Amino acid sequence: MAQLWGGRFTKETDKLVYNFNASITFDQKFLKQDIEGSIAHVSMLGKQGILTEEEAGKIVAELKNILEQTEAGTLEISEEYEDVHSFVEAVLIQRLSDTGKKLHTGRSRNDQVALDMRMYVRMEVASTDALLRDLLETILKIMKAHTETIMPGFTHLQKAQPVTLAHHMGAYFEMFKRDRMRMRDIYERMNYCPLGSGALAGTTYPLDREDTAQALGFYGPMLNSMDGVSDRDYVIEYLSALSTVMMHLSRFSEEIIIWNSNEYQFVEIDDAYSTGSSIMPQKKNPDIAELVRGKTGRVYGALISLLTTMKGIPLAYNKDMQEDKELTFDAIDTAKGCLALFQGMLATVRFQEDRMRSSAALGFTNATDAADYLVNHGVPFRDAHGIVGRIVLYCIDKNISIDEMSLEELKNISPVFEEDIYEAVSLKTCVNKRLTIGAPGKEAMEQVILLEEKYLKETEFPKGDWEEKLLGR
Ligand code: ARG
Repeated sequence: MAQLWGGRFTKETDKLVYNFNASITFDQKFLKQDIEGSIAHVSMLGKQGILTEEEAGKIVAELKNILEQTEAGTLEISEEYEDVHSFVEAVLIQRLSDTGKKLHTGRSRNDQVALDMRMYVRMEVASTDALLRDLLETILKIMKAHTETIMPGFTHLQKAQPVTLAHHMGAYFEMFKRDRMRMRDIYERMNYCPLGSGALAGTTYPLDREDTAQALGFYGPMLNSMDGVSDRDYVIEYLSALSTVMMHLSRFSEEIIIWNSNEYQFVEIDDAYSTGSSIMPQKKNPDIAELVRGKTGRVYGALISLLTTMKGIPLAYNKDMQEDKELTFDAIDTAKGCLALFQGMLATVRFQEDRMRSSAALGFTNATDAADYLVNHGVPFRDAHGIVGRIVLYCIDKNISIDEMSLEELKNISPVFEEDIYEAVSLKTCVNKRLTIGAPGKEAMEQVILLEEKYLKETEFPKGDWEEKLLGR
């Protein structure tokens, strides 16, 4: 047991209490951010004359050593310490004795942990954005290749109207595009620095909060020190955005699972992304898609858990907040893992174009277009709807599709039909006449593809050079 705050105590902490309270097993994940924060803090203390430039210089150099040595594995993060902050400070004091003891001047672990978590999440927001971008590239590639691949579009999981695979994929493109926008929004709101908030009420030292904020790549300091130490909104926003990403991935997975089934056979998942059965030799299961669908609940759980943790916490810092970490780390690993795997699976899936087309041909997906044909020949829409309804019944009875009816059969139901009905209800016509922007028609789709390509070229996540400057590497 090694802790920073023994002075006021006359008894040793109970071992169980110590373990219950400690966070080193998980907060070592942001050791790098902790050291970066300390470097910025100490450099500023030196510039402000709170420490001498020499003291500050020594501490900064040793902090860099500690980071390098832990990364190289020559310095082990000892779980004897209460948390990662105590570990770094203890090593510094072992090495620099009294100078090391000055690191924590004008700082509390409350603003320190608030900073570490914020920097860690900020980094993950950017890396989530990059994964989303990769997924969008993959989706766009499929869209470009399949503007003429006709498939049934569904409502209520019943065949509704013909669309194209490009159009279906384009819907997911839009969803993941919004997810990227959410990442960017979160970044814009969260990118203010809590360092200098102290325990809750700032400090009496003349800290330069603008300087530390800038050194750490923030837009500026947070404007209220109580909020600085106790705000976890950005974690909640990020978990919420990740939950939405997972919801999108889960819907997409569900489609892949359905499409991969024997009944549909719209896709074949690559061998590298499917698994077999221990008993049934014929099986090739879509486990990856099922796992992505299943793991969605876990990410939602993290969101609800943190919202619940935060709801009863009075200002300012309370230890409840330590609970923000494990669930967030787990949600990040889960969502990022799912994004990467899903992308790999989608990039290698084989689309069975013939199956898609014949499925569209069999499900009366052109019934609306048959009704529109009648409307274009002067029949009021409600009457046209009724006529085509009778046509569908007739076809079901004979087990044929609308275009397999003879003109005589059609005329028996409505004399308005002429030879050009066959062209009007061909799947190709049905799709390609839908030309308003956002619709599946080839020309409309090609316009959208151009816009999406432009979007992908333009959106880069902000990446400053603060880290290179701070660490000098
Ligand atoms: N491990 C703590 C956390 O994650 C660090 C802050 C400790 N502050 C305190 N006043 N005990 O929140």
